[in-house]
Amino acid sequence: MSSIARSGDAPGSVAVLTSGGDAPGMNAAIRAVVRAGTARGLRMIGVRNGYTGLTEGNFLPLGPRDVGGIIEAGGTILGSSRCPSMLHEAGPAVAVDQLRRAGIDMLVVIGGDGSQAGAATLSRCGLPVIGIASTIDNDLAGTDITIGATTAVETALGAIDRLRDTAASQHRAFLVETMGRNCGYLALTAGIAGGAEAIVIPEAQMSPASVAAALRGSWDRGKSHAIVVVAEGAHCNAEVLARYFDEHAERLGFELRITRLGHVQRGGSPCAFDRLIATRLGAAAIDHAADGRHGILLGMVAGAVAASPLESVVNARKPLDLGLLGLAHLLTN
Ligand code: F6P
Repeated sequence: MSSIARSGDAPGSVAVLTSGGDAPGMNAAIRAVVRAGTARGLRMIGVRNGYTGLTEGNFLPLGPRDVGGIIEAGGTILGSSRCPSMLHEAGPAVAVDQLRRAGIDMLVVIGGDGSQAGAATLSRCGLPVIGIASTIDNDLAGTDITIGATTAVETALGAIDRLRDTAASQHRAFLVETMGRNCGYLALTAGIAGGAEAIVIPEAQMSPASVAAALRGSWDRGKSHAIVVVAEGAHCNAEVLARYFDEHAERLGFELRITRLGHVQRGGSPCAFDRLIATRLGAAAIDHAADGRHGILLGMVAGAVAASPLESVVNARKPLDLGLLGLAHLLTN
């Protein structure tokens, strides 16, 4: 149970929105929020298109039947957007005004770090807000794992496995670029699970020469193919590596084929784990709301739902376990 203090009255009506990059499992979270809310007799409202829709007053009533058949669906039925004006300018005041005029007492924000920064800003403006941690990047503090990250790892891993089939058949080296603007979680976990010969992430930079040396080493140890997994946010990203391998192709003795996974990792049906945590976090948001708690982010810590003050998570950096990079390296021998 969380130690977050009760900070207000229980709401009569609750709005829910999804914000930022969509993530598999957002629909399962919407479903849980709406059904847990209606079970408690609350009036539930969906906000279309994230904070953009919030500032426009783009609301729709949601009942239990409106969220049927979505637990397995990727994306978000509410739509999403990136809306930087929610962090400053007139955005937050307009949003609070739209909610007050629609008679909405509380807002649930399903999204990642930028979205939760917006939630913290709204909370500072006096709006009761509860955040639910969801992003494929898994870079949000206050939670061990975010909704969508596990499905995205599976998607990246499926691509790596397929590429290894062709790499092994053709005796080639392949580079797979995962998403992850500032965080190497996707590249690191999919790289380890896929047995990558090298992993490049923003948190532990490598030079193109050291990536080439890792691949050369694989060949020298008798391997017939190799996979490099690179996070898009790494300084030494797919573009940099492709240029280096082109320029040094003759000396290196092998070429590197590039596959950028891009938004493929954001789509698709959520895996069981993402559906489960989305369901638990969505229902917990309503429990906290009913107890008059807000200004919090809900995430999973050590397998249990945990609440953290929004202010404590939005400026915090979640460390990646870099020991895993050493493990990956050890097992390339
Ligand atoms: O939501 C996270 C994420 O998928 C990052 O991994 C990626 O860098 C970014 O969003 C891409 O954002 P957009 O789809 O807005 O270009």
